[in-house]
Amino acid sequence: MTHSNNRQSEYPVEPLFLDRWSPRAFDGKSMPKEHLLTILDAAHWAPSASNLQPWRFVYAHKGSADWEKFVGLLMEGNQVWAKNASVLLFIISRSYSVSREGEKKPAPTHSFDAGAAWFSLAVQAHMLGYHAHGMAGIFKDKIVETLNVPEGYVVEAAVAIGTMTDKSTLPDNLAEREVPSNRLPLADVAFEGSFTGKAD
Ligand SMILES: Cc1cc2nc3c(=O)[nH]c(=O)nc-3n(C[C@H](O)[C@H](O)[C@H](O)COP(=O)(O)O)c2cc1C
Repeated sequence: MTHSNNRQSEYPVEPLFLDRWSPRAFDGKSMPKEHLLTILDAAHWAPSASNLQPWRFVYAHKGSADWEKFVGLLMEGNQVWAKNASVLLFIISRSYSVSREGEKKPAPTHSFDAGAAWFSLAVQAHMLGYHAHGMAGIFKDKIVETLNVPEGYVVEAAVAIGTMTDKSTLPDNLAEREVPSNRLPLADVAFEGSFTGKAD
């Protein structure tokens, strides 16, 4: 087992998997562009079906002309804390592939692949001393319109990246939840031979 960050795994996993988590208390400091591009570079080394690399990232730095617009694309419950991040970005994925003949075909794993990119992003951010927090509480239609997302591209999620600060900076209801979360027992999610888990 590994014990780290108030978390305990059942087997000896790398501490990194326990250390990465999603806080909401960010200090609002600016992030050097080099750091953000390092994080996105890592993300785009994720594996994808047929190496289609369907992920796209649209980002804004806090303090930039785009910042308020990006904050406005998050639902209120996320705006409250994510406005203090250093960077906000949207993960968008291309839902089709294009053959050599120029024919478009559905790419059924585009969201799965974009998820791999999200996790790579979160790990690289962590290794640079930042925290990344994914968000599904976003206005997808408004994002498509505001950010000129082309047809056939899907808005997957938003991510706030920043430097963690004290939870006392959060409203009380969020400060109470500002702790690394636990996981289901491994036996509830990993089955040998057939799906023997509860279909709840
Ligand atoms: C795709 C995705 C969407 C999420 N949406 C939100 C959200 O809208 N608001 C929020 O506060 N947290 C959101 N989270 C954070 C999760 O609640 C968090 O990752 C989960 O509780 C596990 O905690 P940990 O990341 O600290 O290990 C999201 C995470 C992911 C991966």
